[in-house]
Amino acid sequence: MLRGADVVDAGGRRRADVVVADGVVRAVGPDAAADAPVRARVLDVSGCVVAPGLVDLHAHLRQPGAEEAETVETGGQAAALGGYSAVVAMPNTDPPVDCAAVAKEVLALGRRSPVEVAVAGAITVGRAGKRLAPMGELAALGVRLFTDDGAGVQDGALMRRALDYARGLGVTLAQHCEDVQLAGGGAMHEGAWSSRLGLPGVPVAAEEAMVARDIALVRLTGGRLHFLHLSTAGSVELVRRAKAEGLSVSAEVTPHHLVLTDAACAGYDPIFKVSPPLRADHDVARLRAGLEDGTIDAIATDHAPHAPEAKDLPFDEAPPGMLGLETALAVSLSVLDLERALACLSWRPAAIAGLAARHGGPVAEGAQANLCVIDPAATWTVDPARLASRSRNTPYAGWTLTGRVRHTIVAGDAVVVDGELVR
Ligand code: DOR
Repeated sequence: MLRGADVVDAGGRRRADVVVADGVVRAVGPDAAADAPVRARVLDVSGCVVAPGLVDLHAHLRQPGAEEAETVETGGQAAALGGYSAVVAMPNTDPPVDCAAVAKEVLALGRRSPVEVAVAGAITVGRAGKRLAPMGELAALGVRLFTDDGAGVQDGALMRRALDYARGLGVTLAQHCEDVQLAGGGAMHEGAWSSRLGLPGVPVAAEEAMVARDIALVRLTGGRLHFLHLSTAGSVELVRRAKAEGLSVSAEVTPHHLVLTDAACAGYDPIFKVSPPLRADHDVARLRAGLEDGTIDAIATDHAPHAPEAKDLPFDEAPPGMLGLETALAVSLSVLDLERALACLSWRPAAIAGLAARHGGPVAEGAQANLCVIDPAATWTVDPARLASRSRNTPYAGWTLTGRVRHTIVAGDAVVVDGELVR
């Protein structure tokens, strides 16, 4: 039983105790304690907020193929510590999730994870952008999101066909918007900083050209499309107009694109190399405004672990990616109020991922107990050595953040208690 907190969910904020039994929320309300089983464990959570567990639309768990960087188990532990009850594992593994056998393997690994692991499938075989993956076979296993993330589908005709199939199957495509020709092998945002540093840049047009193309394809096909990790002011504007038109699009932004700019690359530290790249001040301002006004639906981590020996290379040779699962909530709270942050981290992404039946729903009697308990006032300093992830590539080392996950409950089991993993 959780006693003494405020409950915050899509219905708003209220003071309530929450009784959990047999995997579900048994009772919620100011006097719900009376309904607790006699020997129920009581967690005093006064001063905290009980919310639906967070849902990450975008986590690279690296298994199979790069277990030195992360596994489904360690990624799941990082997620639980971050307040997540469910994550969507990205398919750019080795081999990629482009067939039923690999999807089944990741789903089986996920069943031993402390959080629910949903799997995204690839749009094309080998993520090579040439032939469609067997999306029907994957959808039959419960796959609801398809993406070649790490790369965008470059061929517009193929993307059109994928959207047609997705529509028929009732699934969503998720695009990593980057035109590779325009990106030209760039290592950071193309702007004043890339000129000063002498690093090849990725122009904002590399992203915006694909966002615009895909909006046209959604209009043409009636398919449903989710835009991954948008990074530019122009992309936000394109999505705003597509939504005003009533098109079936949704969008996410990462925590790092909300608080870091291309200036962070000034020391050539490869920790700050990410795809899409950290952008300029005004892009960051427009991304934040897009979250405030609902143009951007969700905050997704793009948790991208890389082993130290792989990441610690000259900036232009290092792989892109940053850790995110254990810091996303606190980083989000540095730019959004709690209610809005939770909408972007829990119930909106749950709906996009097709997980709303179990995650992100109102904290109400009968609901599966997927919850996180947050101490919004607690401050903590990010110490890479203490992260559960197998990798260390956090851009927030030494940052003091406000807002800490106290407990995470998944399907009624407390998997994190007082900030420590218990399974
Ligand atoms: O920075 C990134 N890293 N962006 C991506 O799209 C892929 C990811 C990875 O897999 O490392």
